[in-house]
Amino acid sequence: MNSDLRREYLAGLGLVSWTLRAAEAEVANSPEPNPASAVPAIVPATELADTPAREAGADWTELRARVAACVRCGLCATRTQTVFGVGNLNAEWLIVGEAPGAEEDRQGEPFVGRAGQLLNAMLHAVGLAREQVYIANVLKCRPPGNRDPGVSEAAECLPYLERQIALLKPKIMLAVGRIAAQNLLRTDKTLGSLRQRVHRFGATQVPMVVTYHPAYLLRTPTDKRKAWEDLKFAREVCFRV
Ligand code: URA
Repeated sequence: MNSDLRREYLAGLGLVSWTLRAAEAEVANSPEPNPASAVPAIVPATELADTPAREAGADWTELRARVAACVRCGLCATRTQTVFGVGNLNAEWLIVGEAPGAEEDRQGEPFVGRAGQLLNAMLHAVGLAREQVYIANVLKCRPPGNRDPGVSEAAECLPYLERQIALLKPKIMLAVGRIAAQNLLRTDKTLGSLRQRVHRFGATQVPMVVTYHPAYLLRTPTDKRKAWEDLKFAREVCFRV
């Protein structure tokens, strides 16, 4: 990606004064994977998710229909519609958020509100268009008032995401926000302690990187630089796979 375009994307992310250091500029402009010396070590993760076979065998069409008709938890009573996920079915990157918000509940698509616009800018900053990735949430339905997902709600819903992952076979998962990360990794560790490590998700051991939720970054723009570090880290991991 040329440097003007990259500057434009970083400006969209709110990192207007940020400039590439020489070594990074070299990497960013290189079509090749980074040299081994620049590649982060993969830290073996102890957190492994189960992969319940509940949705085994369902193809995309069947899975979408099952989600649309889901009544496994009480959120079915308050949702406008389910929010299945969106994106490229051949995507290398899977972005996983927490749950639909009000706008997503209305439109039936994840990350379409202000947080979604920032997510798009974050992806652009590492050279990815929204259409190139796949975006989903831990929960397919909006919790009323945007409260945190309940434990049993997440447990009932996760098999859908796990089937999406099995069908998609992403090279990398990016968990955005503490709630997504904690649910996917079945941990109560802080987001700060989960960042900048390569976790592994599920039976297929998909590499997973954790970063801040874009809604949090809208409230705390000073942490955008850390999110940018996380995105670069995820890109390095993806190059390695
Ligand atoms: N926040 C999320 O975690 N997911 C969405 O889809 C929208 C906002």
